[in-house]
Amino acid sequence: MNKTGVRIAPSLLSADFGRLAEEVRAVEAAGADLLHLDVMDGHFVPNLTFGPPVIASLRKYTRLTFDVHLMIEAPDRYLEDFARAGADWISVHAEACPHLQRTLSRIRDLGCKAGVALNPATPLSMVEWVLPDLDYILIMSVNPGFGGQKYLPQSTEKIRRLSALLAERGYAIPIEVDGGIAPDTAAEVVAAGASILVAGSAVFGKEDYPSAVEALRRAAAKAKP
Ligand code: DX5
Ligand code: ZN
Repeated sequence: MNKTGVRIAPSLLSADFGRLAEEVRAVEAAGADLLHLDVMDGHFVPNLTFGPPVIASLRKYTRLTFDVHLMIEAPDRYLEDFARAGADWISVHAEACPHLQRTLSRIRDLGCKAGVALNPATPLSMVEWVLPDLDYILIMSVNPGFGGQKYLPQSTEKIRRLSALLAERGYAIPIEVDGGIAPDTAAEVVAAGASILVAGSAVFGKEDYPSAVEALRRAAAKAKP
């Protein structure tokens, strides 16, 4: 984290899956604050990635905080496996959790930070009554499932409204934003109230990871409230 308080979370989804350990070490050396791990089940989203065994294997190669984004149906079945694999933060999708409060409290009981992710079409009211049970909120600024998609511009107003709601209720819960974040969108989301920027293609899709992370930080520092 730099003095702006913005954290950069490179998403492993855009890394070279044949060299995952090296990729993780490289992004840590490049100054990443968190490692964002996208878990997909082919049901909640139309794509598949990896699960607890891959996360457990990567745990030995880095000290980065593991920010695990579960894009899976019925995530309760696997929370313990992800916590045991080394997840530090676990976010679940509100759309996939009928008993969201219970799911969040289980994540905390497992010793992890609990997050809720909201798809672009999902209203902020989905988190309104679980604010005491949350450690962060993940606003999806693309429809989840794939890296390299274009930022949906209406996400900026959604982040702004969430930020206002949290301030009004007296919560200092960080807002993470995921999808289409690059130097050209970073300032806008930070100005709206986001403080954790997930970036897949804008980091792992570049040749030089330190410059890519730095470019995001510089862009975030230009945010005007
Ligand atoms: C999308 C994932 C994202 C993805 C972002 O479903 O949740 O974390 O990796 O990729 P970019 O930054 O390329 O939009
Ligand atoms: Zn993600």
